[in-house]
This record gives sequence, structure tokens and C-alpha cells, in this order.
Amino acid sequence: MAKITVGLGERSYDIEVTAGALTVTSMFERFIGKGGVLVVTNETVAPLYLQAVKDRLTWVGKCEVLILPDGEKFKTLNTLNLIFDALLAGGFSRDATLIALGGGVIGDMVGFAAASYQRGIPFIQIPTTLLSQVDSSVGGKTGVNHPLGKNMIGAFYQPKTVIIDTAVLATLPDREFSAGMAEIIKYGFIYDAAFLGWLEKNIAGLMHRDWALVETAIVRSCEIKAAVVEADERENDRRAILNFGHTYGHAIESNLGYGQWLHGEAVGAGMVMASELSLNIGWITARDHQRVVALVAQCGLPILPPPNMYADAFMRYMALDKKVAAGKLKLVLLRALGDAVATSEFPPEALAAQLAKLQDAARS
Ligand code: NAD
Ligand code: GLY
Repeated sequence: MAKITVGLGERSYDIEVTAGALTVTSMFERFIGKGGVLVVTNETVAPLYLQAVKDRLTWVGKCEVLILPDGEKFKTLNTLNLIFDALLAGGFSRDATLIALGGGVIGDMVGFAAASYQRGIPFIQIPTTLLSQVDSSVGGKTGVNHPLGKNMIGAFYQPKTVIIDTAVLATLPDREFSAGMAEIIKYGFIYDAAFLGWLEKNIAGLMHRDWALVETAIVRSCEIKAAVVEADERENDRRAILNFGHTYGHAIESNLGYGQWLHGEAVGAGMVMASELSLNIGWITARDHQRVVALVAQCGLPILPPPNMYADAFMRYMALDKKVAAGKLKLVLLRALGDAVATSEFPPEALAAQLAKLQDAARS
């Protein structure tokens, strides 16, 4: 078992990483208040892991369950309202606790519901996808999508604890596992060259789900995420590096329609595009860029944007990015492998030229 603390003063919390955490430990019970608990999950995760969680809560006087439809396309204000409906219909007061049991879609929505129900109630993250275990359950970004942009409605709101049971990953489909790997390799690219080297050396074992390697990668990812969030909880500056590849990726997701490409797939292609721009403006070498492309590919992720997605679509959605400040787009670019910066200090022509090439490639 590993324990990582996210140090945020009175909002500090622990992340527990254990194979079998759902059944063998008892870390989360102490965060359940007198007002009872609403466990929110989805129709895919419920048959797999809901009973294990319910078995842990038999002592709670009031324990209710809400099972939502599954999918990114349901990460909406309408679905969020179903959580409020369940809380209000169930008579839950401010000393109730929400539990998010599922991937990033459930975690983000339940976190936002917790942030806003009666102006804030505690919540616990039990992430069940690789992506949510290494990224979305940690750091307090919560929210839902809007038809005009991804994650545009939300709040910063930290959980009371994050319980990571690596054993639940055994049922995760390969495509979802690859999507989670996108966020793991991201930490190597942006923050930790030694971790990147370790990932390159162990990528075959990781993709075969060698559980000891997977657990090591999860722990290191959570440590890096915790360090970045501790330095800049509300993304005034440094935290933006966690969005490496995401500005391009969000444009891909928004353009295709939510749920066509998985978030991690869009981030995979987006990281290659951000790395290519870093190369084109002379910040990294061709060899560095090749390492990014190779590792993204070894994770089974796309290294090119979707066919028929051109400059106009990228620019339309990138202009809506949350990192646009004073009309200037910020991108996360690599100064070196293991060192990223969120910056608007790149020649706009370089971005225009990169995106124009998509059109040229399609024409030739
Ligand atoms: P997801 O929540 O849609 O889960 C992926 C699929 O796996 C779903 O069908 C789900 O039901 C299923 N699933 C979950 N656990 C399973 C298990 N153990 N076995 C079998 N199937 C399982 O997607 P995700 O990749 O976890 O999260 C993506 C979301 O996270 C996006 O909405 C993205 O915007 C968000 N996100 C948020 C942050 C953040 O900081 N808050 C960071 C990254 C991504
Ligand atoms: N996944 C980006 C962040 O948490 O800031």
C-alpha cells in the first residue's frame, strides 16, 4: 500500500493506492458524516463494484445509491441535475457525504455536485479507470461539459480522500487502459525525465498490465500531480502544464462530439501536436519529438488528429480554451523532455503553419 498526501492546508487529503482497497482497508469510513451517504456510479461500474462499496457501508444509517447512464455524452448539466434530484428527494442535508464510484466522468460530475449542493458537502473519490486514478480524481477540478466547450462549467473542489484500488483495473477494456496511459506518460514529458526513461524501459510490461509496474506508475503519477497541485491549486500558472496536449485534444473532442474519441486518445494526438510545435519553434530536438511520438504510439494511442479535421476547426475550438487570456492563446510546450511551460510566447505563425499543414496533407 502507498499513501500520498496532497498538502493543501485545511483542504489536505490522502490518496491511498492498494490492490484490493475496496475490500481490505477502512480508510474512507471516517469521512462519512452523520447525514448519511449517496453513492453515485454508472450502469457499467455498478454491477462490478457497487456491492463491494455497499458492503463497507452497512453501518451507515442512510445509504442510498444513484446509478447514472454511462458516457462522456452524459457529462452534462441535465445529468448533474439527477444527482441534485436524488439528494433532495432523499432529504440529504449538509452533513451528508457523496461517494463517486467510477471513472473521470462520474468523478468530475459528483465533485461538482458536492461543490454546489447546499453550497458544499464532502465527497470521496473512488476512481475505477486508470485515467481517473492517475489524474482526474486528484486535484479538485470538477465540472460538466457544455455543447460549446468541454469542462466549461465547474469548480475547484477537493475530495476528502481518494481510494485507489488497482485491482479494479482488471476489468478495464484495453482502449480505456491506453487512454489512461496517455496521462501517465504526460507526467514524464512535462515533469520528470527520469520517470519518462522508466516508462520507455517498461512500456511493454505496463501495456501487458504487469500489476507491480502499473502500481509504480500510478503512485509516481499521483505524486507528481500532488506536487503540481500543491504549487498552484487554482491554476494561476504552474498547474497549466498538466494540460499538455489538452488544448489540441479538447478541440478534437469538441469537434468530433463528446465520446467519439476517448479523452486520453485525444490527449495522445494532442501531445504529439504540442511536441511538434515545440520542435518547430526550436525548443526541442527532432530526437526528443521522436521519443514523444514513439511512446504515444506504444501506448496504442493515435499520433495524428482525426482525418478531415483541419485548421479552421482547431482554431474555432482552441479559441474557447480556458487558457485564453487577454485574447491570447496559451499552449503547453516542451522546453525539454521533462520540462514544460504554459506560454503564449510562441509565434502565432508557427501554430498557423502547423495547422495549415493538416489541410495540405489532406490535399496531397
Ligand atoms: P469514463 O469515466 O467515461 O470511464 C471510461 C469507461 O470505463 C466508462 O464506460 C466507464 O463506465 C468504464 N469503467 C470505469 N471503470 C471501469 C472498470 N474498472 N472496469 C470496466 N469498465 C470501467 O472516462 P475516464 O477516462 O475515466 O475519464 C474521462 C473524463 O475525465 C473526461 O470527462 C475528462 O474531461 C475528465 N478528466 C478530468 C480531469 C480532472 O482533473 N478533473 C483530468 C482528466 C480527465
Ligand atoms: N488534468 C488537469 C488538471 O488537473 O489540472
